Amino acid sequence: MRKSAILITGANGEMGHGLITALHKKNNVNIVALDLNPLDDSISVLVHEELIGNILDQGLIEQLNGEYEFDTIYHLAALLSTRAEFSPRAAHDVNVGGTLNLLNLAIEQGRSQGNPVKFFFPSSIAVYGFSGLDEKNDAGTIKEDSYRNPTTMYGCNKLYCEHLGNYYTNNYQRLGAEKHQRYIDFRSIRFPGIISSKTIPTGGTSDYIPEMLHAAAKGEVYNCFVREDTQIPFITMPDAICAITTLMDALEANISCTVYNIRSFAPTAEEFRQKVLEHFPNAEIGYSITEKRQQMVDSWPADTDDSMAKKDWNWKPVHDLDSGMKDYLVPDLQQMYHN
Ligand code: SER
Repeated sequence: MRKSAILITGANGEMGHGLITALHKKNNVNIVALDLNPLDDSISVLVHEELIGNILDQGLIEQLNGEYEFDTIYHLAALLSTRAEFSPRAAHDVNVGGTLNLLNLAIEQGRSQGNPVKFFFPSSIAVYGFSGLDEKNDAGTIKEDSYRNPTTMYGCNKLYCEHLGNYYTNNYQRLGAEKHQRYIDFRSIRFPGIISSKTIPTGGTSDYIPEMLHAAAKGEVYNCFVREDTQIPFITMPDAICAITTLMDALEANISCTVYNIRSFAPTAEEFRQKVLEHFPNAEIGYSITEKRQQMVDSWPADTDDSMAKKDWNWKPVHDLDSGMKDYLVPDLQQMYHN
């Protein structure tokens, strides 16, 4: 008998930490967690099985297919945007090839179970792309179907995988002998930058905001690698996790598209610096701009329009910038670094 479970890839990453904790609390599901590295102790105790391995390992994917019946797959594993620029080939292998492997696993599972497997894919504001600051400033707040001209490898990978998810859901084997059936139910969110109190991201480009905050809480000097006026949207990790679980729980009839924007607040780097100084008045935060990373952030929108998520599945963040700092980030950081 195959065991019923849900699968989370990239389980030891920032988002994996929050998602495993939330899913464990929410219902009594068997979580199979896959990551290149062992899970941290705090989440290792919450999962049914922990697998250390690579999503590019076909043998491992086949083993998972043989042992489990997954009704839901959360495919979080990816190389983030800065790392992807340093190693574009590896990024394509992992971000695209890895996603294809997981989509194929979902198809196999959906076919054998006779029910579509729910598939969650975290996309990103990096799928949008502007030719430069003038276009970014003119565009303002943007909707899902505009400016999808990514200039980063990560953005290209994410946009293509959104299309693959759509294809696998709606047109997979459209010319095959089998009567067309839906084997997967692909749902995706284009995340803005995410700020967590528990973890600091590695390899991203929106990292200047969480890095600034964590450095201030630790009492370390921080030099921000983008200009003061740089603006993209952000969200707290609890709101990001809540968005995932809400979207995945939404009735299929209410879902009108495969990919949704969400956002909460969109401070400039300097506005965020000022907010950090309100809570950590002795923080030493300066600027040391890395022009190449600046260009990447300048190609991303200053803000996104999340009205479709609001309409279809009642998306509403709990935290704005003030309450996110006061009720979540600052208390957790004080406890983490000063106890
Ligand atoms: N936060 C991601 C990164 O910076 C973009 O979605 O790579």
